[in-house]
Amino acid sequence: RKKVTPNILHQQRAAGTPITMLTAYDYPTAKACSANPLIDITLVGDSLAQVCLGYESTTQLTLREMLYHVQAVARGTKHPMLVADMPFGSYQLSVDEAVANAFRLVQEGRAEGVKIEGGQEIAHIVRRITQAGIPVMGHIGLMPQRYLATSGYRVQGRDLESAKRVVTDALYLQDAGAFALLVEGVPKELGKHVTEKVSIPTIGIGAGPSTSGQVLVWDDMMGTWSGHKAKFVRRFADVQTHRDVGVDAYAKAVRDRSFPSPDTESYTMDPAVLAELQ
Ligand code: KIV
Ligand code: NA
Repeated sequence: RKKVTPNILHQQRAAGTPITMLTAYDYPTAKACSANPLIDITLVGDSLAQVCLGYESTTQLTLREMLYHVQAVARGTKHPMLVADMPFGSYQLSVDEAVANAFRLVQEGRAEGVKIEGGQEIAHIVRRITQAGIPVMGHIGLMPQRYLATSGYRVQGRDLESAKRVVTDALYLQDAGAFALLVEGVPKELGKHVTEKVSIPTIGIGAGPSTSGQVLVWDDMMGTWSGHKAKFVRRFADVQTHRDVGVDAYAKAVRDRSFPSPDTESYTMDPAVLAELQ
């Protein structure tokens, strides 16, 4: 399949072909995304912090750590558009620093776009990064990097004020040049409403079935994440069970000396060499 670009994603939206996005944090996962022509976008999400590095929240992830993983994912990425999250603290200090850090994700990480959490208040940053030639995906609704400020993870847009905020944010980001919007944790009716209000693709997670596309975190949908399972997560595979079966079978085979087989899983030595050695 040909490389997916913002243009192709706009065409998919116009044609009503749902956009598929999955997260990846390492080389083998990137290869798995690239092996399926139906996957449009590979996202190195800052969920990397919890599901891969064992941090408690995305606010602990540094740009340096993100870069290291984007590089690995880039080595395994073929046709999907490669988007990287801008970590907490990498775009708030100044617009210049935000642009510089977006450049690092592209130049050192080989990302083809960046994703930034925030709405109206970061629209000027989105504009500058876009003008610099880097495609920006907005991220509105539930913004996990704000969990410190909002005391947890809550569905957004349930009351009128909050719903209006989500729509306003969407329009500001579109105006600032965002090529797509990730919409997280909003009622399905609002997911549909925002999607109808903007002319760029919306990619939902916990935003109902009417967005232009969907995204899930790799470990959530593979069933390898043993932490909290959000309402919107569907486990499309049960890799955890297979994985645990493998670990157990290996450990038992070593304990009972049935692994390795002396015939098929071992090397042999010339008997003459062995005689001299002894
Ligand atoms: O970091 C992440 O994985 C995300 C999800 C919303 C897909 O941003
Ligand atoms: Na994220």
